[in-house]
Amino acid sequence: MEETKQNTLTMDMLVSLCKRRGFVFQSSEIYGGLSSAWDYGPLGVELKNNIKDFWWKEMTGMYENIVGIDAAIMMHPRVWEASGHVENFSDPLVDCRECRQRFREDNLPEENRAGRKCPECGGELTEPRQFNLMFQTNLGAVEDSSSIVYLRPETAQGIYVNFKNVVQTSRQKIPFGIAQVGKAFRNEITTKNFIFRTCEFEQMEMQFFIDPKEDEKWFEYWKEQRWDYYKKLGIRENKLRFHQHGPDELAHYAKDAYDIEYEFPFGWKELEGVHNRTDYDLRRHGEYSGKELTYLEEATKERYIPYVIETSAGLTRTVLTVLADAYEEEVVDEKDTRTVLRFHPRIAPVTVGVFPLVKKDGLAELAREIEGNLRSDFSTFYDQGGAIGRRYRRQDEIGTPYCVTIDYQTKDDNTVTLRYRDSMEQERIAIEEIPSRIREAIKGYRRV
Ligand code: GAP
Repeated sequence: MEETKQNTLTMDMLVSLCKRRGFVFQSSEIYGGLSSAWDYGPLGVELKNNIKDFWWKEMTGMYENIVGIDAAIMMHPRVWEASGHVENFSDPLVDCRECRQRFREDNLPEENRAGRKCPECGGELTEPRQFNLMFQTNLGAVEDSSSIVYLRPETAQGIYVNFKNVVQTSRQKIPFGIAQVGKAFRNEITTKNFIFRTCEFEQMEMQFFIDPKEDEKWFEYWKEQRWDYYKKLGIRENKLRFHQHGPDELAHYAKDAYDIEYEFPFGWKELEGVHNRTDYDLRRHGEYSGKELTYLEEATKERYIPYVIETSAGLTRTVLTVLADAYEEEVVDEKDTRTVLRFHPRIAPVTVGVFPLVKKDGLAELAREIEGNLRSDFSTFYDQGGAIGRRYRRQDEIGTPYCVTIDYQTKDDNTVTLRYRDSMEQERIAIEEIPSRIREAIKGYRRV
């Protein structure tokens, strides 16, 4: 039974499932769509929220020395001068003189780069020019240079500019972290591969403020913590790897950086960055704002600008990772293949499907009652349409880990069938056991 076709997963298969089952739709689809922007449907928003909640719990709830904030997307324009984004946050852009398509020069195959040839039509490419990725707009009624604001290209800066506020109000002592989840915007030259690289996306970032003498120790610590997080999220470890940035890859603020990469259907790509940002950001904000962004170590009376170890994950990119990693087409027998999303149960959009075997003889009412009672503990879905096998398969396809079926025996002895998505095994349990059995199963979940 366990033969699978997972390795044949293509982006087309994934995009098609996402649309068919309501995970992700193209933005403004009825108008022909907006390239590189995507909307999350009823199941997609649940999945995204569950991942966000899991990250938040793992990164704030599990550490007494990490607190959260939620900063505004629009910030004072000087923030982006201080951060170096106005000056440095750009990609080399080339245009094709024939087909007018635009490319990031550093992403082109070597032969196209060297020969200045368009990879699409063979036309001549322009000389590269630096293209700033920040979206710029104007705040207020007057459109002049004094009203310019940027849509933030990373959430991190909202944390740095609140460093002093948090130190003063939360009584945190170094080492401590500040976490934030929110939208970020980049005018990406090439957006492709579905929700992998988009112009509007969400980040889950944590900035950990430390004594500069301890940067290597904390850098190693956070690399390890973040690797373990993906394992807890249910991502297969053999699909993950670290990639250390070479000198020409390092961002302008970084002393050292590792990407956690995932093997997507289109190759190994960055999922998260763990960066040693040194004191770059706090020092620059101190200089540009004129405010002192230092820290006084009470024991030693030493004053310093803290270093920062940053963990920066893409939320929307994690949604793609989770979907790609979960997707399997499993050959059940010679005549039967099922599509199954093997989400970790703690992030599955629906945790329990509840079905009456048939609608009549009071089974539907009983099933509704059971489903209603489960709602306060789990995300549930009630389905009474079609053959029971078809209903199971519909839930497999959206990754529902547990299904409960109510049949005639339920009326006699108050028992139901609990069916497990991964093994397709079924067991008979008492109605009152359902919540505890599911909770235990979630806690002990191991992907087969
Ligand atoms: N604060 C550091 C920072 O923003 P980054 O490597 O540019 O670092 C961090 O971005 C993460 O944000 C990436 O690993 C990726 O998951 C996500 N990300 C970046 N650009 C993205 C885009 N255009 N679309 C979707 N996710 C993106």
